[in-house]
Amino acid sequence: MQAFKGNNFTNLFLQSNGWKNLSYLCMFLILDTQNHRINKTERMIAIITGTNRRKSEALTFARIYQDEIEKQTGEKPLIVNLEHIPGNLWHPDMYDSDKQAPEIIQIQDEVMIPAEKLVFVVPEYNGGFPGALKLFLDALSVREYKKTFKGKKALLVGIASGRAGNLRGLEHLTGILNHVGTIVLPNKLPISSIEKLLDGRGQLKDEPTKQVITKHVEEFLAF
Ligand SMILES: Cc1cc2nc3c(=O)[nH]c(=O)nc-3n(C[C@H](O)[C@H](O)[C@H](O)COP(=O)(O)O)c2cc1C
Repeated sequence: MQAFKGNNFTNLFLQSNGWKNLSYLCMFLILDTQNHRINKTERMIAIITGTNRRKSEALTFARIYQDEIEKQTGEKPLIVNLEHIPGNLWHPDMYDSDKQAPEIIQIQDEVMIPAEKLVFVVPEYNGGFPGALKLFLDALSVREYKKTFKGKKALLVGIASGRAGNLRGLEHLTGILNHVGTIVLPNKLPISSIEKLLDGRGQLKDEPTKQVITKHVEEFLAF
């Protein structure tokens, strides 16, 4: 816990009196913090995994983008890992701002609202983007809609085991993000046949894909 000392996240966690307040603990799990120090500038970019599937490749690619952004900016962006979004997000009360899960409120207030730029790493599920991501976006739209989405800039990367790289899902997500006021970088990157590109230890082994991701991040930082 030393690594987090002195920032809002720690304070919230410490106020939670150890393990008693599960809501703050869950927020830490949702964030893929990897024990790095969180400060205000790091929160300028947030990376969202587009699925809640356990140990997803979306998380693998989120970390690849995280490393590339850190390499180019010297700042490590946060990853919001939907795998750890609590099950009570799927609930009729999720559309009532007073009854939303505290973890969602916390993530929205501490990460999604302060972030100026958003990176979405979106796997292809049945020819589109995963319902878990849409549910998350719908939940965020219930409270603080404008502060969360309006005027933000987004980078979209699609991943698929098939050949389409989730192009259709990226187009659909673009329409939704535009609807809520977020501007999407026109260069959306569909990455196909991902199994062939990874080395089995979460690293990219395909040089052309590494180069295209480097350029993608450069373009997004200048966007
Ligand atoms: C429910 C489900 C549906 C999927 N549908 C497709 C699909 O339509 N086309 C495709 O290329 N891959 C499909 N896949 C494979 C994923 O695109 C592939 O595993 C993805 O690149 C990484 O997903 P992950 O982030 O959940 O690990 C599907 C996977 C799941 C779990």
